[in-house]
Amino acid sequence: MNGVPRHLAVIMDGNGRWALARGKPRLAGHRAGAETLERVLAWCGEVGVEILTVYAFSTENWRRPKDEVEGLMRLLGLFLRNRRAKLLEDRVRFRVIGRRDDLPPALRRRIAALEAETAAFTRQLVVALSYGGLPAEERTDAAFARCLYAPDLPDPDLIVRTSGEFRLSNFLLWQCAYSELFVTDVLWPDFDRAAFDRALASYARRDRRMGGHA
Ligand code: IPE
Ligand code: IPE
Ligand code: MG
Repeated sequence: MNGVPRHLAVIMDGNGRWALARGKPRLAGHRAGAETLERVLAWCGEVGVEILTVYAFSTENWRRPKDEVEGLMRLLGLFLRNRRAKLLEDRVRFRVIGRRDDLPPALRRRIAALEAETAAFTRQLVVALSYGGLPAEERTDAAFARCLYAPDLPDPDLIVRTSGEFRLSNFLLWQCAYSELFVTDVLWPDFDRAAFDRALASYARRDRRMGGHA
């Protein structure tokens, strides 16, 4: 039995399909997804997950239509503005990993301010933005380690992907070497406490041999 993962990473997928199924614009799905993230962060606090890393926007997601990309950037800015007080109250450290230089300047400033304000806290919310796990330029182990956006983070114990896709989509490729994986068909906006508990219960049953013997 493994208890509760210290570091939980989530690939928040399925917002678009959730919206499509309801005849709504994709952005409505992203808005619902942002609310799911707030709930999941609260559950992490309740059960004792110390670090929650979420994949919010990949380096490949820039290829989406301009409207959707702009809408997502706006939504991220709103998320930071609306969640700031709660993060401070709950003493959650906020960090971004990824190519932050790709982000709009106003969003970058908001991120930097919140990172500075919360830097001393122990619980962490890490948001992967314009994130890709494999920098194409560098290929040796040492170079990889130097390239990590947050080398101090422990590797994720459990990676959850919603929406039934059995792939990592360029998320934490280096750090996932011995992570346990959990894929659920639930679309991210529908990810509820029962789905969260199923993921953690599955993790608790895993035999983490890490290459050792049984
Ligand atoms: C995940 O939902 C959020 C982002 C990648 C920004 P999607 O937008 O990928 O939703 P689907 O996969 O189209 O349902
Ligand atoms: C992965 O989802 C990225 C995020 C959840 C932010 P995508 O929807 O972009 O991944 P693919 O295209 O299904 O691999
Ligand atoms: Mg998707």
